[in-house]
Amino acid sequence: MSWMARVRFEPSMCSEVVTTGGPGGLSMALGDAGRAFVVADRAVLRLHGSWLEAALGPRLAGIFAIDADERLKEMSTVSDILDRMRSRSIRRDDWVVGFGGGMICDIASFAAAIWLRGVRLALVPTSLLCMADACLGGKTGVNFEGERNQIGAFYPAGRIVIDPSFLGTLPAREVRSGLGEALKTAIVSADRELRDLLLGPRGTDDSGWVLGLVERCLRAKAAIVSEDPLEAGPRMLLNLGHTFGHALESAGGFELAHGEAVAIGCITAARIAGLMGGDPCLAGEITSIAERLGLPVGAPSTPGRALGRFLERDKKTSAAGRTWVLPFAWGDCRRVLLDATEERRLLSEARRGGPAH
Ligand SMILES: NC(=O)c1ccc[n+]([C@@H]2O[C@H](COP(=O)([O-])OP(=O)(O)OC[C@H]3O[C@@H](n4cnc5c(N)ncnc54)[C@H](O)[C@@H]3O)[C@@H](O)[C@H]2O)c1
Repeated sequence: MSWMARVRFEPSMCSEVVTTGGPGGLSMALGDAGRAFVVADRAVLRLHGSWLEAALGPRLAGIFAIDADERLKEMSTVSDILDRMRSRSIRRDDWVVGFGGGMICDIASFAAAIWLRGVRLALVPTSLLCMADACLGGKTGVNFEGERNQIGAFYPAGRIVIDPSFLGTLPAREVRSGLGEALKTAIVSADRELRDLLLGPRGTDDSGWVLGLVERCLRAKAAIVSEDPLEAGPRMLLNLGHTFGHALESAGGFELAHGEAVAIGCITAARIAGLMGGDPCLAGEITSIAERLGLPVGAPSTPGRALGRFLERDKKTSAAGRTWVLPFAWGDCRRVLLDATEERRLLSEARRGGPAH
């Protein structure tokens, strides 16, 4: 006789995003119960530590500060964070709060996901890239031996607190990096309002413009993630620009900001799509928006062999080849499997400038 059991695991995890005019928003979002252990960007803490203190007061159970250096987004740092959480006796009903950009929020979220098999998580994104993209969707993780986000888990933050006032101290290059990721979302979602925001004037009240942009990006991402939280299908389209972008970032020792690499990756992917019958004008349109936003549009001269090595480690690589996300038109992104020979040919043509039009 055999016995079988079926257990249905359906974690009812839901992220609530609140926009706030100040620290009171975080304090309200966390509710009354639980202490807060903060994983913070050291630079952001120096600039905005008083915001955090005002938000958390006596419930603050400890702060682990790290430099936002991609090379520190590694397991050894996670281990140090967990060690500190243990010494502060962080329990399941406490909160881990990520306070910084995408690098900090990714690593804080991963620590929250694995400590005691999951403690409550809140994120306070302080970079535009993190506000408009990284804070939402539950992807947590760290790099492994210099390769992007090779280790991780899906673990969405219960609360996300957006306060555009942090952007007042964000360096201009990092603002542009965030716009690179927003451009990717505009291509995937074909959200006309988002494209208009990217193309239009920022006006005198930057914070209204930022909030509008962040809202459009998060709404577009929320719709896709809600349909496919564990990235079994449609969510993969949000990886547009990341296959080539991640390889460029890794091969260049993280000299490129993430959103800069994604923008170059989107242009490259659009050129490849153009070579495969996609809209031949799209790559040019994306390039001119990226230029207007002050983003780099050409890949740095990275040796093909170094790029190839990092492309090989892309999570979408299989025995049959590598699956690229290619934009055939605004809102028409497709997953396309390219075998090694085809990929080499298309990529070298795309890097030379793509289809003539
Ligand atoms: N989880 C996801 O879905 C997801 C999505 C996209 C990107 N990411 C990850 O996000 C990271 C990139 O995010 P990022 O661009 O925010 O990088 P980051 O966290 O490295 O921040 C970029 C820089 O901005 C600084 N900074 C942040 N906020 C600031 C502020 N308010 N004032 C002054 N300086 C500030 C940081 O100190 C850092 O120097 C990468 O690790 C990437 O893998 C994750």
